[in-house]
Amino acid sequence: MTRIRCDRTAAWGELQTVFQGKGHRLDVRAAFAGDAGRFGHFSQEAPHVFADLSKNLLDADIERLLFALARQCGVEEHRQALFAGAAINSTEQRAVMHWLLRNPAPVPVDTAQPASKNIADEQAQVHATLDAMLAFAERVRSDDAITDVVNIGIGGSDLGPQMAVLALDAFALPGKRFHFVSNVDGHELAATLARVKPQSTLFLVASKTFTTIETMTNAQSAKRWFENQGGTDIGRHFAALTTNVAAANAFGITTTFGFWDWVGGRYSVWSAIGLPLAIAIGAQGFRAFLAGAHDMDEHFRTAPLECNLPVRLALLDVWYRNFHGFTSRSIAPYHSALRRLPAYLQQLEMESNGKRVDTCGKALPFATAPVLWGEPGTNGQHAYFQMLHQGTEVVPVEFVAVKKPHHGLTGHHTLLLANALAQAQALMLGQTDPDTGGEGHRRFTGNRPSTFLLLDDLTPTSLGALIALQEHRVFVSGSVWGINSFDQWGVELGKVLAKDVEARLLRGDATGLDGSTAGLLARLQE
Ligand code: F6P
Repeated sequence: MTRIRCDRTAAWGELQTVFQGKGHRLDVRAAFAGDAGRFGHFSQEAPHVFADLSKNLLDADIERLLFALARQCGVEEHRQALFAGAAINSTEQRAVMHWLLRNPAPVPVDTAQPASKNIADEQAQVHATLDAMLAFAERVRSDDAITDVVNIGIGGSDLGPQMAVLALDAFALPGKRFHFVSNVDGHELAATLARVKPQSTLFLVASKTFTTIETMTNAQSAKRWFENQGGTDIGRHFAALTTNVAAANAFGITTTFGFWDWVGGRYSVWSAIGLPLAIAIGAQGFRAFLAGAHDMDEHFRTAPLECNLPVRLALLDVWYRNFHGFTSRSIAPYHSALRRLPAYLQQLEMESNGKRVDTCGKALPFATAPVLWGEPGTNGQHAYFQMLHQGTEVVPVEFVAVKKPHHGLTGHHTLLLANALAQAQALMLGQTDPDTGGEGHRRFTGNRPSTFLLLDDLTPTSLGALIALQEHRVFVSGSVWGINSFDQWGVELGKVLAKDVEARLLRGDATGLDGSTAGLLARLQE
């Protein structure tokens, strides 16, 4: 498969020329004034998600060049390789097939692609595991003696299920409480254990590798606590969600749900890692979550680039990061149930595309992943939106709003949606200072870009689609940048050093350390 790094394509140079010309001074207000069809042209209907891109700093010429860039980089071939099960995670020689977890039917074999996997076999295993996991989830749901589910996991083994359980609270079975313990900071586990009873708690130890030090430390402590409280039936009160079933068994857990090395941690909510969500919303709800994602997979796999929402969003990301030089993107979910969405997307984007070398290991001469951050609206408006409106940095904002509320309180939802629309409007329109009629403290420059993602309702199906949309968008920008979006070597060095520092802290040994670490270690020893 041919992948050409973006900076080596003809389109890259053309985009640079366009940026230096009209691109950097494109005024969205003028663009609207000159084009009555702008909203229609720059909005996109995708399965379960509507997107308005029209308030962004682009026009049809720029977008045409961005599509050319994607084609010249081989995004379409790369997408085909993804769906054929080729080993596109090249540093680990692994296929990337989280999409298979939500595929309801046998996959047609693409004989043109060298697949590293027998997809039909994998699919059979996926469905057998899913059935077993969902049957288990249903048993837990009907077991009134279990009132609390404690998920112990970190990174992808925490963020996905936590975000989704919160997001779909309106669909959750009453009478079960969900707790998520991720940090090795004992305050987190201790506070959770203080709220639960051993006889009514199910601990889920979620770890792809079953070696992650935070998760193992928390799991050992939870097991010790359970036994110290007189708990004996580990088989009933502990289950493991892992690709390393042998290690889970060695830990003493006999109830296990497996998955495969071709599921990356940050792409694993669709696998056994999604068990807390399956317990919360039931087998039918979890299947609807998978179905929504599958609908988005099909859209991404089959739609031409020009009307392919993940592609359009990713190309906009590239335009902003590499031509405008914007360093971050703010996620503004106008729905409090989506409050962990920014943290979830942060891992998805930054662990996937926070890379400084291409797939051949050569240093890149251009920027990759932006910083992702955010808080639910309207809270963000009373915190950092000041900077978004009047700061010196331009930060593209991604609004996520939902048409239908799941509460009956009068007036709230209209006010919430009005605020989302008004913020996007204010960012774009700006205002001259009413005191001076021009520059001044009350001036808003405007022309600040935003994207508006709109769901009709926040349901298992639409959440599945929204998350799959974001996964594919990250795939496309990573593909254009010519990087491997599916490894994460950047987390390794800190892990190794932490082991050394832990041993030094225990024996009070600072010999050979850098001055700062030695100084801090000495202070901790006083
Ligand atoms: O932080 C690195 C990482 O490997 C993530 O990619 C992953 O989601 C997390 O750690 C947890 O890993 P595991 O599920 O193997 O415990």
